[in-house]
Amino acid sequence: MKINQHYLELEKSYLFTMISKKVAQFQQQHPEVDIIRLGIGDVTLPLCPAVVEALENASAEMGVKETFHGYGPEQGYDFLKEKIAGYYAEKSVSLAPDEIFISDGAKSDLGNILDLFDADNTVLIPDPVYPVYVDTNIMAGRKVVFANADASNGFLPLPDENTDADIIYICSPNNPTGAVYDHAGLKAWVDYAKKRDAVILFDAAYESFVADPALPRSIYEIEGAKEVAIEFCSFSKTAGFTGTRCGYTIVPEALVCGGVGLNGLWLRRQTTKFNGVPYIIQKGAAAVFSEEGRRQTLANIDYYRENARILADTLDRLGIRYTGGKNSPYIWMECPNGMKSWEFFDYLLENAGVVGTPGAGFGTNGEGYFRLTAFNDHENTEKAAKRIEKLLSK
Ligand code: MLT
Repeated sequence: MKINQHYLELEKSYLFTMISKKVAQFQQQHPEVDIIRLGIGDVTLPLCPAVVEALENASAEMGVKETFHGYGPEQGYDFLKEKIAGYYAEKSVSLAPDEIFISDGAKSDLGNILDLFDADNTVLIPDPVYPVYVDTNIMAGRKVVFANADASNGFLPLPDENTDADIIYICSPNNPTGAVYDHAGLKAWVDYAKKRDAVILFDAAYESFVADPALPRSIYEIEGAKEVAIEFCSFSKTAGFTGTRCGYTIVPEALVCGGVGLNGLWLRRQTTKFNGVPYIIQKGAAAVFSEEGRRQTLANIDYYRENARILADTLDRLGIRYTGGKNSPYIWMECPNGMKSWEFFDYLLENAGVVGTPGAGFGTNGEGYFRLTAFNDHENTEKAAKRIEKLLSK
């Protein structure tokens, strides 16, 4: 018996596990400190009433023989896929229900999708980026090359014709930098992928935070993207489903690699390895698209946007440079006084009781940066902003 040696090449802990351990340790040593968490991007507002009502009704259905549901379709119920197709139609993207696969969240499918690709492929990943892309490819022993995202390109790298890649990750609005590609930027990536017969894995988990109507919320807003891109999205940040678990992955019929349609492969993979998202949860997710659900979830997003504004205004007053916070729930700030990311993490925790995420945890180019999230409540965000301002204006 041999273990997968590639696991030994990983950092010892997943970034957010490491942070929560550090914070728990600090709290134990300093029980008097009222810690405010602006670290992991976990929501704080409860599920909206329209979703709760749908969950309750679906639970009641499950207790009645006539409306009980056993195994559902692995790729999701049509009632939810049709709602998602309707949502994309508003972005002028037409999707067939069979191109939509309901998942238990973007993170799982971003890892699972790699089942479809040979270990020999070269993977291009922006640096800094959500650590799941890198870690899942290390686990599979794939060669990873990086696209530098830094202040010089606004943290939005464009393709370098000299770099060869088979699988390309793009996250927009970006986690962690909050930077968002415009149509021209995404088109450059689509063109590059076409030229190389590469596949783009597009993470749209934060699309609902895009406020600027000129910015794309789906890669399929770019002509021809269906031939090269898989899109991952989630109800986690849009509708507070971090603990409820539901998302969706779009694998267009037009996406063909080496003569093989990826939609069919993904269907084969899902029907074999996944038994679907619970009926109750899918009913809750469908309610996100009802008139009430839309209004209520948008109000929650606006609530987080206000938090982002509070944090951004604080950094503006301090003269600290940052990206994000406008079309994204993340604010990516430069650590003050040339501090390193983990140094600033400790400094902020110890002197202000505020937790953020060290930029270095997202890649080499993240060193010297720090990520704050807008997902806490107003009261805590205001309190944290005041503490940060007091500490850093010293
Ligand atoms: C983050 O903080 O980067 C996200 O919450 C992680 C995730 O969505 O898995």
